[in-house]
Amino acid sequence: MAELTIENVSKRFGGLLAVENLDLTVPQGKILSLIGPNGAGKTTVFNMVTGVYPPTEGAIIFKGHKLNNLRSNRIIAHGIARTFQNIRLFKSMTVGPSGPCSKPAMKSRKKKASAKRRSRFWNLSG
Ligand SMILES: Nc1ncnc2c1ncn2[C@@H]1O[C@H](COP(=O)(O)OP(=O)(O)O)[C@@H](O)[C@H]1O
Ligand SMILES: [Mg+2]
Repeated sequence: MAELTIENVSKRFGGLLAVENLDLTVPQGKILSLIGPNGAGKTTVFNMVTGVYPPTEGAIIFKGHKLNNLRSNRIIAHGIARTFQNIRLFKSMTVGPSGPCSKPAMKSRKKKASAKRRSRFWNLSG
């Protein structure tokens, strides 16, 4: 049974069609790689699967749940995680303070609360 299904997915950035009509299924328990030359659209596919960008067209379905237009935190809750090609760590910071910086722009009160929750989750502060 397919765990992840990408159906006819396209992504357009203005006049640039980065991904065109991609169909892909990842069966349960399989490890697959996405290969292609620079600029082929690999990272854009991962960005769509993890909610960084919504697809312009098509559907992304994981374990029966449509992920299109879900925020990254909701997608993570469904069980999809990722790492990044360029992680750009802060050289002057340890893991504790670096973690809360990983959240994309949020309103500052929300950001503080979120950072506190995450610090507790990682058991890095009191
Ligand atoms: N946020 C963006 N805005 C505009 N163009 C983008 C954006 N992200 C990627 N692209 C373009 O989409 C195409 C595919 O890029 P990318 O997915 O990074 O390719 P790959 O990971 O296979 O090297 C490239 O032409 C890239 O310049
Ligand atoms: Mg890439």
